[in-house]
This record gives sequence, C-alpha cells and structure tokens, in this order.
Amino acid sequence: MQMSCKNLTASLDENDTHSAGRSVLYVCNCNGIREREVRAAIDAGASRPAEVFRARGCQAQCAKCVCEMRQMIAETRETLRYAAE
Ligand code: FES
Repeated sequence: MQMSCKNLTASLDENDTHSAGRSVLYVCNCNGIREREVRAAIDAGASRPAEVFRARGCQAQCAKCVCEMRQMIAETRETLRYAAE
C-alpha cells in the first residue's frame, strides 16, 4: 500500500514516534534535524526537502520526514504570499 503525505502524517500522529506534530523537536530523526534547522534552511532559500538535507550536509535515509518538510515549505510560501498582499 502506497501512503500519501496526508495518510503518513495521520499515521505518524497516531504513533507519535516521529515528527508529524508541531510539539516534537526533531523533524528528521535519522539525521537529527530539528524544526528550527529546517526553518532556517527554508528561510535561506530551500524550496525542496532535498535542499534542506543539502543545507544540513546530509541526505534522506528513510524519508519519513519529507512530507513534513514539504508542509513546512508550503506553509512558509503561503505566509510569504499573504504577507506580500
Ligand atoms: S526521518 Fe528524515 S530521513 Fe528518516
């Protein structure tokens, strides 16, 4: 069964073993990337999860964090879009 980002996030929320919730400090447990580090990479111009990994000098391993990174990137874009209006 292939999981969408939405399903994966819901699944992770249920188990609370990963970073789907905002209260969890780490977004990427494999590489030890914290939420603030992801936000810093996004603020520095990362527009894809691969660029977040590159900014941290690592690469995706299990890729379970990619959905949340995409959501964070999308939220930042939305915020900037509204701020520009
Ligand atoms: S949690 Fe990020 S690569 Fe596994």
